[in-house]
Amino acid sequence: QRALGSELPGAEVLVVSNREPYIHNHTDAGITVQLPASGLVSAIEPVIRACGGTWIAHGSGSADRDSVDAADRIAVPPDAPSYTLRRIWLTDEEQDGYYYGFANEGMWPLCHIAFVRPTFREADWRYYREVNQKFADAVVREAKTHDPIVLVQDYHFALLPRMVRKHLPKATIITFWHIPWPNAETFGICPWKEEIIEGLLGSSILGFHTNFHCNNFFETIDRFVESRIDRERRSITLGGQETMVRAYPISIEWPPSALAGQAPVPACRAAVRQRFGLGEGVRVGIGIERFDYTKGILDRLHGVDVLLSRHPEWRGAVTFIQAAAPTRSKIASYRALQDEAVALAEEINNRYRTPDWQPLILSIRHHQPPEVFELFRAADFCVVSSLHDGMNLVAKEFVAARDDERGVLVLSTFAGASRELAEALIVNPYHAHDMAEAIHRALMMPVDEQEARMRQMRALVRTRNVYRWAGQMLLDAAQLRRREGIERLAA
Ligand code: G6P
Repeated sequence: QRALGSELPGAEVLVVSNREPYIHNHTDAGITVQLPASGLVSAIEPVIRACGGTWIAHGSGSADRDSVDAADRIAVPPDAPSYTLRRIWLTDEEQDGYYYGFANEGMWPLCHIAFVRPTFREADWRYYREVNQKFADAVVREAKTHDPIVLVQDYHFALLPRMVRKHLPKATIITFWHIPWPNAETFGICPWKEEIIEGLLGSSILGFHTNFHCNNFFETIDRFVESRIDRERRSITLGGQETMVRAYPISIEWPPSALAGQAPVPACRAAVRQRFGLGEGVRVGIGIERFDYTKGILDRLHGVDVLLSRHPEWRGAVTFIQAAAPTRSKIASYRALQDEAVALAEEINNRYRTPDWQPLILSIRHHQPPEVFELFRAADFCVVSSLHDGMNLVAKEFVAARDDERGVLVLSTFAGASRELAEALIVNPYHAHDMAEAIHRALMMPVDEQEARMRQMRALVRTRNVYRWAGQMLLDAAQLRRREGIERLAA
């Protein structure tokens, strides 16, 4: 906010992402809106709300294109409009090829290395290119100035930076890659690796969550394209365009808006216990995310299984609630995961259940932020067991939800968040025994240790919040613009 106000006076901001910030539901009472389950949306929405501008996204959340809310341009959020949402409409074929196909069956498994084989189809790639062009055209059409700041989000738009650059050579294009960047060998299996890299190198600044991902990117470039790499400046120059490659660890808003209006922790505990029919003394664990194979949901169910077999004292004494939002269900591997998780939970429950207790509860639906925060507040521990994750904002939200400074975070070493939240209990989710022991330790942890760890993590998330994430990128952009201005004067 500060950066935009003072460092970039009058600059125009455009955001490009696949997912739009609101899902529109048609109910008898009219249209209601909800935020989708997306780390990207939860990070970008507070930023654009604060600085205004235009957000260009696929109009997917709208029930149907011909409905009353299917306007191309609307002012959002509905209750307090502060920016413009420009929606792009895609045909079913475009959506299948670009989103389900290349983005989510190709790039997603490619970058996450979660042992789901990426699928590369020529037709998907064609739609990916076409849809990138469609969004790039929208950026060029929406821009009112010749040098806007364009914030490009994620693996759906690897080609767009160069496409926009062609028409707006003076634009400051900041691309943020919300998922991991794999090592060069892994990236090398993508049939269109050169095009993807060249597309991204149309950006002025390319951001990843961690230095580890930046280094993977440098190595990929080194291996596959002729360019000048300057490790000192942390930049890459291709065809006269210099791209700064930087780590910007993403975060959440502080204080999170979902915390406003939350009941005190004991009341949240009582409400959740009642809702799930849990006995008085039963301890509560929570996991919450999209039903995605990268999140290690099966692995954590195995962890609970091993806990109950190695530490039988927890039978009847702890219940793990897994809330998961169905996602990308058109893709077979996602449907299979959901079926497998339901079957596994059932099997574990059958082995241990008693008439008034069961170890696992699955809640498979979309959960609104206030509900998620109530669950966080009711929990003795929260498990984030991603097999690979760029950052993972659930970990940070759990910490933000605990203003009572209690509760333990069990966090995968393969989530970017583990670089920052070192006071969590860090686990290898592939190792069920390790997970079980971490949960046991969480359940046994004395209150003063919980508080000390939580306080430390809260202090970090409070200062390294999402405004700082965006602010740092915009400050870097401002510096770049000043430098380019001086070079123009000198020329
Ligand atoms: C991750 C990706 C986002 C994506 C989100 C939800 O956080 O980095 O780009 O929006 O998952 O996935 P979906 O496919 O439902 O948008």
